Amino acid sequence: MPDLYAVFGNPIAHSKSPYIHTAFALETGEDLRYEARLAPLADFAETARQFFAAGGKGCNITVPFKEEAFRLADDLTPRAREAGAVNTLKAEAGRLLGDNTDGAGLLADIERNLAFTVAGRRVLLLGAGGAARGALPALLLRQTACVVIANRTAERAVALAEIFHTTEHSVAGVGFADLGDSFDLIINATAASLTQEALPLPAGVFAPDCLAYDMMYGKGETPFLAQARAAGAKIRAHGLGMLIEQAAEAFFFWRGKRPRTDLLRQEMLLENPV
Ligand code: ATR
Repeated sequence: MPDLYAVFGNPIAHSKSPYIHTAFALETGEDLRYEARLAPLADFAETARQFFAAGGKGCNITVPFKEEAFRLADDLTPRAREAGAVNTLKAEAGRLLGDNTDGAGLLADIERNLAFTVAGRRVLLLGAGGAARGALPALLLRQTACVVIANRTAERAVALAEIFHTTEHSVAGVGFADLGDSFDLIINATAASLTQEALPLPAGVFAPDCLAYDMMYGKGETPFLAQARAAGAKIRAHGLGMLIEQAAEAFFFWRGKRPRTDLLRQEMLLENPV
């Protein structure tokens, strides 16, 4: 019997994770099965427990269960503890080890695939929920010039910035209305693209050579990337590359083998161009 893995979410039907992990397994010669599983909104923990009790080796966790998965884990990697959220669980010696590969996936896509150096840049992170929090530990591993978090609810941005601000890393939180400066890297970690809504951003936030990165992706251009294009931002990307890279990190966490991501990324971007 191949080892069993799954992704839990709600909704989950359109998840690309089974396709990605099946491709990784083929490429690395690992004998595993990976399925998408719908977890009831009120019962993620029990669903995950049953999965592991039945022999499941590991799982990914997506919206809206990452904070619950954080609480379910017996042990946490440092980056999962910092993010306050878990997107990958592994069964090991009767315990559940929780990791968060989102930030590493984001940075791998930005730095390796898009060849954009994060160190020294002025970074604007839009949103102050779980997605933004997952990105912050990885961003702060780079010597950024500064990180500004902007959010519809300004207080949430201020509270998140306070958690991550240190003498080494300048992190500030603001509301959208307070944005004045321009930034070199702008990452949309809000859920606004899900509902096809644009954010109230001044056009001046996009520096001429900036990278506009939407952690969301969908069929067609997201409202955030349309805004970036209209403001003259030449380098734009959506979160499909991040999805593939965070999956590769999870695969490595489970199997100790690092799959290739370049060909799969090329292939999947043909179906979902930016
Ligand atoms: P996630 O785990 O996906 O980050 P979340 O914790 O619910 O989900 O956070 C969603 C983020 O998207 C928040 O920053 C939210 O802003 P608020 O804190 O003001 O709620 C942001 N968001 C969602 N819909 C938005 C919209 N239409 N415009 C602007 N921001 C939006």
